[in-house]
Formats: sequence, C-alpha cells, structure tokens
Amino acid sequence: MKRVLVTGATGNIGSEVVFYLSELNLKLDLTLGVRHLDSAKEKFYHIPTLQYRNFDFAEPNTFRSALEGVEILFLLRPPQIADVDTYFKPLLEAAKLNGIHKIVFLSVQGAEKSKMIPHYKIEKLILKLGFEYIFIRPSYFMQNLTTTLLPEIKAKRQITLPAGNAKFTWVDVKNIGETIALAIKNFDDYKNKALEITGTEHKNFYEVTELMSTIVGEQITYRSINPISFYIVKRKEGLSREFTLVMLLLHFLPRFQKTPNLSNEYQNLTGKEPTSLEEFIKREQQIFIGKKT
Ligand SMILES: NC(=O)c1ccc[n+]([C@@H]2O[C@H](COP(=O)([O-])OP(=O)(O)OC[C@H]3O[C@@H](n4cnc5c(N)ncnc54)[C@H](OP(=O)(O)O)[C@@H]3O)[C@@H](O)[C@H]2O)c1
Repeated sequence: MKRVLVTGATGNIGSEVVFYLSELNLKLDLTLGVRHLDSAKEKFYHIPTLQYRNFDFAEPNTFRSALEGVEILFLLRPPQIADVDTYFKPLLEAAKLNGIHKIVFLSVQGAEKSKMIPHYKIEKLILKLGFEYIFIRPSYFMQNLTTTLLPEIKAKRQITLPAGNAKFTWVDVKNIGETIALAIKNFDDYKNKALEITGTEHKNFYEVTELMSTIVGEQITYRSINPISFYIVKRKEGLSREFTLVMLLLHFLPRFQKTPNLSNEYQNLTGKEPTSLEEFIKREQQIFIGKKT
C-alpha cells in the first residue's frame, strides 16, 4: 500500500490535508510525522486508520525511521523554523537516501521570486536534489483571522497591523487542504508543477473588518500602525522576536508590492468555487465573539 508521510499534521494546513485524504478513502497508508504522539493521536482519534511516527525537524535522529517506506512526502515548513541549511537540507538528503522520489511541498504564493523567504530556498533544494515535486503556493490564509489575529479581535474588537491599505488575496485553508489531498492522490497528473491556490477576492483590512462587523453584529476596527510601533507593541504583548518579525514582513511588505494574482487552480482541480470571505466569516463567526476585556 502506498505510504504518505504528512508533516505538520496537527497544524492548520496539515489537519485539513489529513481530513481530505481520509475523505478520499484511498488505499493508502497515511502516516503522520509528529513530535507529540499522544496529543496527535488524541486530535485524530476519530480516524482510527492513521499511522504515527515520531518526527521532529530539530531532531535528525528521528528522520530515518519516519521516512522509511514512504512513497510521497508532504512537507510543511513550521512558521518558527526558517534555517533551511540546518533543518531542511539534512531532512531532504535523508529523504533521498531513503529512496523517496516524490514531494508535495506547501510553499507560498510568489515564492519563486522572493529570494528572502525560506520557501524559495526549499523549492530550489527540492529541485537540486532531483525529486519529483508539486509545489503548492497558497495566498494569504483567511484563518489568520481565527488564529494569530484572534486574541486582539476577541479582547479589543480590533486588528492592529502595519499593512496600511494593502490588499491581500484571501484563501480558505480548507480549500488548500483539499487541493493538496487531490495533488497527492493524482501526483503524476500534477508532477513537477507549481499550483497557486487563492480565493477570488482582494481585500484590505479596512474592507475585511467592515465585513466582519456587519456579519458579527459588533464593530471591529482596523488600526494601521508603522512597523516600528508594531514591533514594540507585539513584543510588549509577549510575542517572540521571530514571530513578530514574520508578522511584520507578512503585513508590511505587501504595501510596496503588486497585489498578488487570483488563480483558477482550485476551480480547475475540484470543479468547485473556493470559499468567499463572507462565507468564511459566517462559518467562523462564533469564534470572533469572545468576552471583550
Ligand atoms: N499564514 C498565511 O497566510 C500563509 C500563507 C501562505 C503560506 N503559509 C505557510 O504555511 C506554513 C504554516 O502552515 P500552518 O499554518 O499549517 O502552520 P501551523 O498551524 O503553525 O502548524 C505547524 C505544524 O508544524 C508542526 N511542527 C512545529 N515544529 C515542529 C518540529 N520541530 N518538528 C515537527 N513538527 C513541528 C506543528 O506540530 P506541533 O503540534 O507539534 O506544534 C504543527 O503541526 C508556513 O510555511 C507558512 O509560511 C502561510
């Protein structure tokens, strides 16, 4: 039976990949490479067919047994791991040594021209090592509203970012997970391609908070601040230096860049329309209405 190893399985994208792969009911040995076996098993207790292996990007001694017998590796870069030579080079070399030929890598829209970001280097490394690959390049996650931006929304009905009027190309993580599952299922059809996955809307944070306010029925405001103030505020709130910098670059740089493209890949792959922001906010609205502090 074909074995697929999913990294990052307990996170936003990974858990959708596991969900959609399980839904497809393939004859597949679906194995999750996780660093906390017990909590992962608890999270996926409702899918008893899953296999688990101990895997930690920071512990190269976990690579060999995790990679053994794997036909397709789904590779995700956890947000806090950026050093490609330290973490991804040894992993990809170990994958090669273990006879893995196929990789589906969760990259990011525009990675091919953003030399500064780790995804660019990882893509290049996958090419250099001669893997067959599918690069999934999604745009800005709608789920940023329900994860990293959520504490401030719940506590203050506010989003503070250094993003000015920059328009983001929003996409639902569920649509990305579904695409990845189909790419894994039909690997040879998409082999050696990059798939840009986006929704159908460009919106700035003024527009998004206005939409949220209408749907949730409470005023949610957007406050754009300069990057230095943003850094100071977030560090005072206890965010790590690395994560504050990631947030800063993710939201400040788009002010100076062309708004990213909308793509039809999701529609082409699934025959469906991607989730709209309105649908997403309606679906998740209960999450936004926490007790105001
Ligand atoms: N946010 C956006 O708008 C956006 C847009 C495009 C692309 N992306 C890319 O999407 C990726 C993030 O995906 P995500 O949101 O699904 O991330 P996430 O929710 O933060 O999940 C990260 C996953 O990685 C695992 N992990 C962390 N450190 C690990 C380690 N040392 N060894 C093994 N596993 C480890 C975590 O497992 P534990 O349960 O053990 O912590 C978790 O399963 C990033 O590469 C980011 O650049 C993001």
